[in-house]
Amino acid sequence: MITERLETQKECTKKENCNMMQSLINTQIWLSRTFDKLLPEKYRIDGNQDFIRSFVPQYLKPNLKIYDIGGGKNPYLSLEKKTELGATIVGLDIDANELQHAPQGIYDEVVCADITNYKGHQDADLVICQALLEHVKDVEKAFASIASILKPGGIALIFVPSRNALYARLNLLLPQTIKKQLLHTIYPHTKRLQGFPSYYDRCTPKDFHTLAKQYQFDLQEERFYFISSYFSFFFPAYLLWRIWILGFHLLFGTQSAETFSMALKKI
Ligand SMILES: C[S@@+](CC[C@H](N)C(=O)[O-])C[C@H]1O[C@@H](n2cnc3c(N)ncnc32)[C@H](O)[C@@H]1O
Repeated sequence: MITERLETQKECTKKENCNMMQSLINTQIWLSRTFDKLLPEKYRIDGNQDFIRSFVPQYLKPNLKIYDIGGGKNPYLSLEKKTELGATIVGLDIDANELQHAPQGIYDEVVCADITNYKGHQDADLVICQALLEHVKDVEKAFASIASILKPGGIALIFVPSRNALYARLNLLLPQTIKKQLLHTIYPHTKRLQGFPSYYDRCTPKDFHTLAKQYQFDLQEERFYFISSYFSFFFPAYLLWRIWILGFHLLFGTQSAETFSMALKKI
């Protein structure tokens, strides 16, 4: 009985400490967000949200065949939007478990394959790669594969975090288990969708331009984003990172982007 009570007490103290830590982190995030309001808007646009809400919708038309590569359990289109558009969606992912956990009925076909060694059938109107290419060991091979999946005139819509970002460099230095634990402890909401191993192979705007040329893609549109939230849990670090970003941008222009989107048309 006494041991049980002690255990419960320990649990409560642990919970209280956790809650205290979380509210401290929330205050730091609030401070970082508040500081950001002082910066011009272009430094505040969330790349992934812009890709979802503004970039991709421009290319959605009725009755397209869409490959969602690395869509896993979180495909780009909702079932409602897919039905409205009459789209056919192929879910291609390296992880069968991820594909299995996708919303029921979203994929008309699933392909469990590594995008770096998949040979397509030139039958896609649209390919969507959202937060995929940073997880791929050989991005050049992925470009070759995407080119083989698209019809001539088909378009690849890519959103990717840049290798040039500070968090990407840190990510490459830290062991996978440690960074996953850190990420999920500080930002519990990332547990479902983030924490896959990352390589950032050739994930820079410059390298993507080279690869696009090499695999005969015509660059239709590109957008660059200069915000990410990784350092927002500790305002002094966030402030230093913001100063770094402003200087980096001044010197290296779009190469300093934290994330970017590209629309590449297969010639
Ligand atoms: C960060 S998740 C992104 C999921 C979804 N696209 C999103 O934006 O939420 C990365 C996905 O890419 C898949 N993936 C990683 N490497 C891959 C590869 N070489 N070929 C195909 N899929 C891969 C993972 O299994 C995972 O489902």
